[in-house]
Amino acid sequence: VDYAALRAVAAVVRTGSFERAAASLHVTPSAISQRVKHLEERLGAVLIERGTPCTATDKGLALCRHMDRVGMLEKDLMAQLPEFSGLEGAGQRVTLNLATNADSLGTWFLEAIASFTRATDYLVNVAIDDENHTADWLRRGRVLAAVTALERPVQGCRVTPLGSMRYQATASPGFVARYFPDGLTEEAFRRAPALTFDQKDQLQTIWAREVFGQAMSFPTHWLPSTQSFLEASIAGMGWALNPVQLARRHLECGDLVELVPGRFLERPLFWQINRLAADQLHELSRSILTVARRDLGL
Ligand code: ARG
Repeated sequence: VDYAALRAVAAVVRTGSFERAAASLHVTPSAISQRVKHLEERLGAVLIERGTPCTATDKGLALCRHMDRVGMLEKDLMAQLPEFSGLEGAGQRVTLNLATNADSLGTWFLEAIASFTRATDYLVNVAIDDENHTADWLRRGRVLAAVTALERPVQGCRVTPLGSMRYQATASPGFVARYFPDGLTEEAFRRAPALTFDQKDQLQTIWAREVFGQAMSFPTHWLPSTQSFLEASIAGMGWALNPVQLARRHLECGDLVELVPGRFLERPLFWQINRLAADQLHELSRSILTVARRDLGL
């Protein structure tokens, strides 16, 4: 295996361009493109789809995940044999590809990875997707570990329960006065705009079905940001399910009210990590679990 070439492929995928890959590896862009091309010719397969940004093909991705593990093993080796630290690629910081849902990132996840990065010299590359979809990132080998709603292990992964994200349906007092002057009736509900994160977001729909005992349709704004979701609720744009960690303060001071007091929606989450990386990333899993246990109530 030509590790210099594999490292070049991984750097192009990580940075999105041959120039930035060259800068990050301290070589010329033409060295990068020769290494990549040479490897592609030898394997008879395209590894990188050239574009803006450059992305990996499925074969390219498999090589990138292999390089993640090589990077972790090299890190262990350097710790034992510092005399190797002059070799090419040695001392290059290892970037871990992780996936999480947006609401985890907006509440507890960042604290967990921040504490991990303070204690190690890993870099992280965090991808955001819906909790029902982050498992696909693991399956396709695009990440080494993920926060997911999927309890069943993805092939080759270890699963640990994290507890549950808790949500409350909230709106501003002004919004409630405008749309629900006579309380939360079915008719009023069908006219009151909600907030929906994106096409994968089912939370409002699920909540409405549970509360009214039937499928309900309602108008909606689309707003793909956890923080903006909260701010838009406070600003009276719509009602929405917000994570309790973010809503608490605003419910206390009266910026927000619950549509159905005391009613929560719980979404259990799991940490899935590639078995081949799990031992090396024990510290990462530990930080994740420590914060999740405290914040997600396991
Ligand atoms: N499930 C998605 C996520 O956390 C979108 C969440 C939508 N949030 C909401 N409060 N409805 O990434």
